[in-house]
Amino acid sequence: MDHFHINNGVMHCEGVALPVIAEAVGTPVYVYSTATMQRHVRVFRDALVKLGDPLIAFAVKANPNAAVLATLAREGIGADVVSGGEYRRVRAAGIPAERIVFSGVGKTEAEMALALQGGLCQFNVESVDEAQMLSRVANDMGRTAPIAFRINPDVQAGTHAKISTGGARNKFGVPFGDAVAAYHLARALPGLAVQGIAVHIGSQLTNLTPLRDAFDKVGSLIAELRAAGHVLTLADLGGGLGVPYDPNLPEPPSPEDYGRMVAEVTGGWDIRLAFEPGRLIVANAGILLSEVIRMKPGAGPEATPFVVVDAAMNDLMRPSLYDAWHGIDAVTPRGGKMVANVVGPVCESGDTFATDRPMDAVEAGDLVVFRTAGAYAATMSSTYNSRPLTPEVMVDGGQWAVVRPRRDIDAMLKDEVLPAWLAGSV
Ligand code: LLP
Repeated sequence: MDHFHINNGVMHCEGVALPVIAEAVGTPVYVYSTATMQRHVRVFRDALVKLGDPLIAFAVKANPNAAVLATLAREGIGADVVSGGEYRRVRAAGIPAERIVFSGVGKTEAEMALALQGGLCQFNVESVDEAQMLSRVANDMGRTAPIAFRINPDVQAGTHAKISTGGARNKFGVPFGDAVAAYHLARALPGLAVQGIAVHIGSQLTNLTPLRDAFDKVGSLIAELRAAGHVLTLADLGGGLGVPYDPNLPEPPSPEDYGRMVAEVTGGWDIRLAFEPGRLIVANAGILLSEVIRMKPGAGPEATPFVVVDAAMNDLMRPSLYDAWHGIDAVTPRGGKMVANVVGPVCESGDTFATDRPMDAVEAGDLVVFRTAGAYAATMSSTYNSRPLTPEVMVDGGQWAVVRPRRDIDAMLKDEVLPAWLAGSV
């Protein structure tokens, strides 16, 4: 559920009419709803209530905007970070060190040192080589790094290949069969305190079975490791629960279904659990607001017309990268319906948001929203075609604020430096 609704014929985000934001800030612009984010945190927390006091570590990569992180920090949430940059962002947003887990296959010495200096709950270590590097860094600093190994359980997540992470051929985690040896080795390394186990098999999962299979494997490994004398106090079950994008598809499992499944599987584990939801918390809390620049008649046998909008693949990459489906609705519906191809101005045919899409009838100058654009959207944008990064706006009830201003082309030009041999030639 979200807080983007038509009220008196005009779409609002909570108490704010979207044309007010478009008028003041221009388009395209991302708009986030505070109430939706808060609701999702509470729904997820309620779904896990039978699991004691789990750590909910928001996967920052889904939406790292400072205002989003500050909103979530106020809800008492932790963070799953995958870079020094994300670590610094969550600390700046006020998320306490003991609620931070650090994931990722390519942590550098500098990133390890940053997190050891500032503190964290645990590093989710993805290889023996990484454990050895972390041991050296921690030892040199006179610190102890709390670690879990991220296990690759070799299950097929059943989601898009580009966002599946738990298969043996994926780069993530320690292969299941090598896990016990990795724990034995890490126990003997100075500067490491082995405390946990972690797993994450992919994103936008719409079926609980692969998750259950992965968690079952984690459970058997916990038993085996304990029998071998390891002390494990935290099991991080990752993120990945899908959200509804297309109302014509079956709804993904609810947080309640997920919580029930986790309770069943982990019942005898006697361990604190952690979760790393990203999309579930923020996806439906955001939209991309865009204006129709022009209508262009289609050609060929179907002659589907093109709706050319001022947002493009550089602003919202998901459709071109994963063939992702985002709902597209008029902000001030005219009443009629049409079938259209919705495209941006970028010079690639991949700059297509929807093909042969039944949607609200729109005309040049109308505003449209791309729904479910709070996760993996603004954060994945680029300046391709020299289009400045899209601004972001946060709404809370009747108030709103720009939380990332639009950059202008002058600022972008100033970022670039001519080499000495070209300076003066222009
Ligand atoms: N934990 C780890 C270690 C992850 O790699 C991810 C996502 C998450 C948690 C959060 O997963 P979530 O709950 O959001 O599904 N750009 C893609 C999604 C990439 C997901 C990467 N890892 C997209 O737009 O669909």
